[in-house]
Amino acid sequence: MLFISHFSCRAILTILTMGCGIAVHAQSDIGSYDLRCEYLVNPMGIDVEAPRLTWKISDTSQGAKQTAYRVLVGTDSMAVAQGKGENWDTGEVPSDANLVVYKGTPLKPFTRYFWKVESKGVEGKTYQPREIAAFETGMMGMENWQGAWISDNSDVDLKPAPYFRKAFEMPKKIKSARAYIAVGGLYELYINGEKVGNHRLDPVYTRYDRRTIYITHDVTSYLAEGNNAIGVLLGNGWYNHQSTAVWNFHKAPWRNRPVFCLDLRITYEDGTVKTITSGKDWKTSLSPVIFNSIYTAEHYDARLEQPGWNTAGFADSAWKEVYYRSAPSRHIVAQAMHPIRNVLEIPAISMSKPNDSTYVFDLGRNISGVSRIRVRGEAGTVLRLKHGERLYDNGHVDLSNIDYHYRPTDDSDPFQTDILILKGQGEEEFMPHFNYKGFQYVEVTSSKPITLAKESLTGYFMHSDVPAIGKIASSNPVLDKIWWATNNAYLSNLFGYPTDCPQREKNGWTGDAHIAIETGLYNFDGITVYEKWLADHRDEQQPNGVLPAIIPTGGWGYEWANGPDWTSTIAIIPWNIYRFYGDSKLLADCYDNIKRYVDYIESISPEGLTTWGLGDWVPVKSKSPVELTSSVYYYTDALILAKAAKLFGKQGDYEKYTALSAKIKDAINAKYLNRETGIYSKGLQTELSVPLYWGVVPDELVSKVATNLAKRVEADGFHLDVGLLGTKAILNALSENGYADVAYKVAAQETYPSWGWWIVNGATTLYENWRIDAKRDISLNHIMFGEIGAWYYKALGGIQPDEAQPGFKHFILEPHIVEGLEQFDVSFNGPYGAIRSSWQKTGKRVKLSVTVPPNSQCTFRWDRDKWAKASIGKQASQGETIELAAGHHEIVLQ
Ligand code: BGC
Repeated sequence: MLFISHFSCRAILTILTMGCGIAVHAQSDIGSYDLRCEYLVNPMGIDVEAPRLTWKISDTSQGAKQTAYRVLVGTDSMAVAQGKGENWDTGEVPSDANLVVYKGTPLKPFTRYFWKVESKGVEGKTYQPREIAAFETGMMGMENWQGAWISDNSDVDLKPAPYFRKAFEMPKKIKSARAYIAVGGLYELYINGEKVGNHRLDPVYTRYDRRTIYITHDVTSYLAEGNNAIGVLLGNGWYNHQSTAVWNFHKAPWRNRPVFCLDLRITYEDGTVKTITSGKDWKTSLSPVIFNSIYTAEHYDARLEQPGWNTAGFADSAWKEVYYRSAPSRHIVAQAMHPIRNVLEIPAISMSKPNDSTYVFDLGRNISGVSRIRVRGEAGTVLRLKHGERLYDNGHVDLSNIDYHYRPTDDSDPFQTDILILKGQGEEEFMPHFNYKGFQYVEVTSSKPITLAKESLTGYFMHSDVPAIGKIASSNPVLDKIWWATNNAYLSNLFGYPTDCPQREKNGWTGDAHIAIETGLYNFDGITVYEKWLADHRDEQQPNGVLPAIIPTGGWGYEWANGPDWTSTIAIIPWNIYRFYGDSKLLADCYDNIKRYVDYIESISPEGLTTWGLGDWVPVKSKSPVELTSSVYYYTDALILAKAAKLFGKQGDYEKYTALSAKIKDAINAKYLNRETGIYSKGLQTELSVPLYWGVVPDELVSKVATNLAKRVEADGFHLDVGLLGTKAILNALSENGYADVAYKVAAQETYPSWGWWIVNGATTLYENWRIDAKRDISLNHIMFGEIGAWYYKALGGIQPDEAQPGFKHFILEPHIVEGLEQFDVSFNGPYGAIRSSWQKTGKRVKLSVTVPPNSQCTFRWDRDKWAKASIGKQASQGETIELAAGHHEIVLQ
């Protein structure tokens, strides 16, 4: 082994992020940056007693490393800047950690804390933050709420959404103001006529009767001395599901008329505090939102608008009294995550007019989100905006691939179709408040003649606004397009919980989410969403350990599709968060749940094999035995549990679950593996790749099974023959075991069945079915075949976390320089900063450009059967591996 710490690169490392522009870390100087609390930048309204603080070091020099840190926390920013931490001062801690858990004086509610980290490095370097960071506490406990839960007195089936308002006077100048609003349903908050903030569909969906979410808004700039008014519009969301579909959300146990509780806490310049609260002194009226369904669409009658309803001067004498209502649950917690937003505006690329009263708009790409229309017309004109992913040959929008689980009781709630009734006064604008859809096309029909232009309609790509942290670029444009489409499908399915598709279901399908976890974590900073979703898991778990197939759920999914091949999310997701972030909190929070889950499977599968599960969902053609795949997931869960037990020092559990995982492995191999031939079951792609990928194959047979897999794939014409479970394993099982070239052939394939086949046929998202002309299971925006988005990083870029030093403290760098690809470039902004791996073939050599972020390290490996020697500058290695220190490295393989 050779340890090389090479020259530093003075050049600034730029991470190109997808969709939202460029994040540049100007690193001409050294210091600490990206200071975060609970993985958010300067969050407001956090509720945890011991928040996690993280940071990165900026230093491009070779071997840059933190040798000690000191964290200071206090309520006076100047004092913190000057090195005084009245609430917490860790003192100088000799450590390279960049994650600490707050252990200072107990945090008070409604308080802004400032913090900074001072780090030391090698050779007497010091790293100071560029800015003092902050976090602000919210309620910090149920007892601090002052408002009442209120609603109007309407029935759950009443369709129009309610407005609420209250006018009040502020006698003095204000210093700051915060609105805390907890809601069963969805809301929009207005102050003095202005909508507060840019979040959409707040609060995120939870199991409302077990955990209800509140949001904190800084509303200082919305208020003024004198007369003020606050307005709230409530939507149904998943709380009051009025549309009827096969999952019975209209029968959810929590279902009720939307309800809210609000505290507006105002601090005046003289230091006094006044809290305006929701209560009997509010008034209510029905709004122009005459129908809203998270699942189908929204209907709006502009003739019912009440201009100025949310301003102080509005005459509300005709408005009705509000009613006290029960809180949805006794557990009201802060929404500490990246919110849903209208992230990207997408103009229509074309408009057609199939007949005189119909216009069809094409966004040119498939998205999750909403459309906004601007239109003029006579009062009472009814516009219907039908959103879909496909067109019929006659140019009209086709919903048949996405509406077949919908069970409407009449024709008043058409699928994915907004209905707008014009008020007839100049240009009118409409965009739904409380719904989103999956679509590329919008068909607008009008009851009376209207004139529309291409510019009349705009699309908005909505999703949880998680920062993009990864980027790939290669010499193969189809490969790059698959990556982009994968990310589009991933984001289209991230709405505070991961979903299967943004149109037909919007369900938190567990299986789809664990398949896509690594794709998510390489490409986006998604920890906040997953921590929230695993809390949903804990809320939904039965005392016996069973989880439902969709989470959250109104009750559906405890009976079907919830075997280990789907609901292993409870183990796989916390484990991956640990691998990617080096943070074991989620794993610790879920430890007992994983244990209960594994114990349950053991109770129904005492011999080590389980048939509980769906199996390789939507396969190309071959179906593998459910018992094989489900037992592999059972094995994986037991193994994760054993590793977690070891991590948390639970020796008894560690021994017990290590033995259990060995027993399951043996049972799988005894029944399915032919040790002579190295073939599992009938030797199908899924049957060979799933045991290989999840580490079930006995060591001595790994290469034999991998060779069989490579042969199988070749016999299948280098085309896929897998479903959801096989797709997770196939590329990795090949590239991890000496067949990266074969994996690449499959990944870059452009004929059916393959990812490329979708792309060359115009896909901008991933599909649910390998067959484009399938009659069912053909949503055009599914993430369940999305593992390829992670494989690029793992196999072509070669960037892999090391479980022994998680969070990319140490990582493996093993790029596969595959046949048929000239160049590949990947960057991934992990917890220590940007990792870059880029390679280019030049004749018989390969030039690699590698960046290891400060305070981390990696082990470089290469395909030694292809390239005997790796050289860095004048130093050459023919060994097994090279250790690379932080900094930039140019490597030549020959
Ligand atoms: C969903 C899938 C899901 C499956 C499980 C489908 O309807 O769209 O993505 O995993 O059901 O049965």
